[in-house]
Order: sequence, then structure tokens, then C-alpha cells
Amino acid sequence: MEIDEFGMDLFSLSGRSAIVTGGNTGLGRGFSVALAAAGADILVVGLDEDDGTTGRLVARHGGRMTFVKADLTQRDVPGEVVRWCLEELGSVDILVNCAGISVLADVAQFGRDQWDPMVAVNLTAAFELAHEASRVMIAQGSGKIINVASLFSFVGGRGSPAYAATKAGIVGFTRAYCDELAGHNIQVNAIAPGYFATAITEETRADPEADRRILEHIPAARWGNVSDLMGAVVFLASRAADYVNGQVLTVDGGYLVR
Ligand SMILES: NC(=O)c1ccc[n+]([C@@H]2O[C@H](COP(=O)([O-])OP(=O)(O)OC[C@H]3O[C@@H](n4cnc5c(N)ncnc54)[C@H](O)[C@@H]3O)[C@@H](O)[C@H]2O)c1
Repeated sequence: MEIDEFGMDLFSLSGRSAIVTGGNTGLGRGFSVALAAAGADILVVGLDEDDGTTGRLVARHGGRMTFVKADLTQRDVPGEVVRWCLEELGSVDILVNCAGISVLADVAQFGRDQWDPMVAVNLTAAFELAHEASRVMIAQGSGKIINVASLFSFVGGRGSPAYAATKAGIVGFTRAYCDELAGHNIQVNAIAPGYFATAITEETRADPEADRRILEHIPAARWGNVSDLMGAVVFLASRAADYVNGQVLTVDGGYLVR
């Protein structure tokens, strides 16, 4: 593209199809609505019952949203999700691996029962979806894979060794996939949200001491709102990021610099 061809349509996702896992709650809802507002049609996959909120917000932007209730840790489900997206929406242009869980326990209590489910959702399901989607994207000659990392990709994860391990793992996986897929015009990046007020952080926010400690550490002096992430996902999903590869875009109110 020449400089004089630059315009805001570079951020348009019109005609694109996106899979957003965990897309009907929390951060995933924001990702789905942001992608729809930029023009994409959305296939949302999640475990929770869909109360219709995300679909209504997507429709307000003129987008289409299909919800599939499925457990991504079940073998064959990631492959089926990619096939559903192809059948329902005609292509798989964007994959946002947002589904994730966090279980907190002291090291002494933290065993395989806590470890295994987190690895299965946060890491293995994300890998399987990226694996399946990348085959479609290679055939299409383009695609965007956006993985959801965390501050615990970079810093210690008190009370949740598996969460920290999976979120560090997702960054390694992002870079490895990026390296192989960039030559196919597929950009693989990650977003690392800081502390956001969603269901996954409910336990932490309910603890006044933890809440105070976290806020003291955030230069912006507040928890993130879901809307704080919406620009980041549109950027990484759009043509504006065609030469952005293997990055982790941290959106954390400055947490990591303090
Ligand atoms: N909220 C934060 O502060 C924060 C910070 C950093 C990273 N994250 C990450 O953001 C992502 C979304 O978290 P959130 O805060 O929106 O919490 P959330 O609990 O609202 O969202 C989690 C979503 O994952 C889905 N999910 C869980 N297990 C699944 C499974 N087996 N199959 C299919 N879907 C499944 C749930 O249905 C839900 O929609 C997670 O990966 C989380 O680790 C959150």
C-alpha cells in the first residue's frame, strides 16, 4: 500500500468471519462486539448458556452472530467449530482464542485436579483451534489468529501455577505459530489484558486486601473495562496489522511498568 492510499477502511472487517471462543461473556463479549462493529460476522463458542446479550449487541452493529454451546476440551470439538464457521459464515478469517479458566489454590493444595483442566482449556483447546483454523487460512492465503494471554505470561502467578504456565505457554505458542505462518500471510499475535472486572476475577475483587494491592500497582489506578480492549482486537484483526507478527499487545493500565 502506498502512503496516499491510507484510510480508515484499513481497519474495516467487512466481509470477514471470526470465531471468538468464550465470546458471550466478559472480555470475549467485548471482542465479539468490537469485531462486529468493524464489520465481521461472528461465531461464538462457549460453555455458558447464551442469554442473547452478545447477539443483540452484535446485531445493533448490523452483524450476524451464531452461538454454539460446546466444550472445547472435548476431542473433535475444535475441528467441528472450524467446520461450522466455514459452513455458516463461508470462511474463517479471524480466530480469537479467548476461552479460559482460572482456579486458585495454595501450592500445597494445587494438584493435577487443578492443573489439568486449565491446561486443557487455556492451552490445548487454543492450540487445537489454531491448528484447525490455520489449515483453512493457509488455503485462503490469509488469516489472523489472536490468542489471549495475561500479565501472568510475564510475572509470577501466586495461587495459580497452572494459570501462569498456560498463559506463558500461549505466548510461546503464539511465537512458534507466527514463525511458521507469517509466510502464508497469516498473522499470529496475542493480547495480554491486565486486571479486568469480569467473572474470572470475581474472587480477587471480593477480597479487599487483594483489590487494594492490585489498584496500588496500576498506574491508571483502576480496573480495566471490557471496552478498553475493543480497539486492540480490531487492530490485530485488521489489515492495519498485516505486518505485525508474534507480538503480545499488553493492555493493562501500565501495570507492567510499575
Ligand atoms: N478478566 C481478566 O482480568 C483477565 C485478565 C487476563 C486474561 N484474561 C483472559 O481472558 C479470557 C476471558 O476471560 P474473562 O475474564 O472474560 O472470563 P469469563 O469467565 O467471563 O470468560 C471465560 C469464557 O471461557 C469459556 N469457557 C471456559 N471453559 C470452556 C470450555 N471448556 N469450552 C468452551 N468455552 C469455555 C466460558 O464459557 C466463558 O465464556 C480468559 O482466557 C482469561 O484467562 C482475563
